[in-house]
Amino acid sequence: MSELKRYLKAQQRAVDAALRRFLPRESARPATLHKAMRHPIFAGGKRLRPILCLAAAEAFGGSAENAMPAACAVEIIHTYSLVHDDLPCMDNDDLRRGKPTTHVAYGENVAVLAGDGLLTEAFAIVAQTPECRNYKTRHYVVGLAQSADSRRLIGGQVLDLEGEGKSLTKAQLVRIHEAKTAALLAGSLRLGGMSANVSPRKLEALTIFGRNLGLAFQVIDDILDVTQSTEQLGKTAGKDAAVDKATFPAIVGLEASKKEAQRLTDKALAALKPFARQARRLDEIAHYLLDRDY
Ligand code: IPE
Ligand code: IPE
Ligand code: MG
Ligand code: MG
Ligand code: MG
Repeated sequence: MSELKRYLKAQQRAVDAALRRFLPRESARPATLHKAMRHPIFAGGKRLRPILCLAAAEAFGGSAENAMPAACAVEIIHTYSLVHDDLPCMDNDDLRRGKPTTHVAYGENVAVLAGDGLLTEAFAIVAQTPECRNYKTRHYVVGLAQSADSRRLIGGQVLDLEGEGKSLTKAQLVRIHEAKTAALLAGSLRLGGMSANVSPRKLEALTIFGRNLGLAFQVIDDILDVTQSTEQLGKTAGKDAAVDKATFPAIVGLEASKKEAQRLTDKALAALKPFARQARRLDEIAHYLLDRDY
């Protein structure tokens, strides 16, 4: 196993342990709800957003310990968005992270409420991030909201649904991807940086890195939907074409999509150039994500 893979595994384990601590126990009443909230969280998942949050903090002299509440909060927001994304009224998927989706396991009504529960917990958890000179609790809370609000994640999900069956321009698709996916990746990095008391200049660099990395990430997600199997992905492959989603491969083709992911990754990396030595780990993660196969 490469050093990077060992690092990613160790970070995943640390995040999982913290999530176990932060989330209400399965036995908390009503138990069905708390089981349904833990089900998608502990089904698996690459934990990419929390890992980016921790890596941003560590790159700029912060600690994983101080960044951990924010790291868990972004993973919880991401997971709630997946629970709702999979609902029959949305993408209608029955497999997620290799397990039955929350609505399949617990019913649609409980799945909606489990998503609501996760979303709410995320704000209580991010508020536990220790304050530092430049950033106070309100900055963390607003930072999380601004990664996932109606102009970003939720708005992007609406545009994504409205885009089904339509022939969008590349610029329109970029706007969707920016909102539904890139904003939360950028927010994850920003929150990590904030927990490390970074300067405005470094925060801006993390933001540009995150936005481009996030765009590349969704382009690759679109590509994998075409090129990989359901087994490999742990979610239903070929789903986008089946419902005529607006995706990169649908609009520009597979080869041009791969080039676009490379170009966006290069653009992301360029933002970190002035901090190359400190940001080595972020650089490695960006390369790793470009080559991912799930
Ligand atoms: C899937 O995200 C949804 C997108 C925004 C593309 P991930 O590929 O990070 O899913 P998990 O967290 O590993 O399950
Ligand atoms: C999901 O995009 C983006 C979210 C904000 C949840 P997709 O619908 O492409 O994600 P998958 O492919 O179901 O994971
Ligand atoms: Mg979707
Ligand atoms: Mg989906
Ligand atoms: Mg997808």
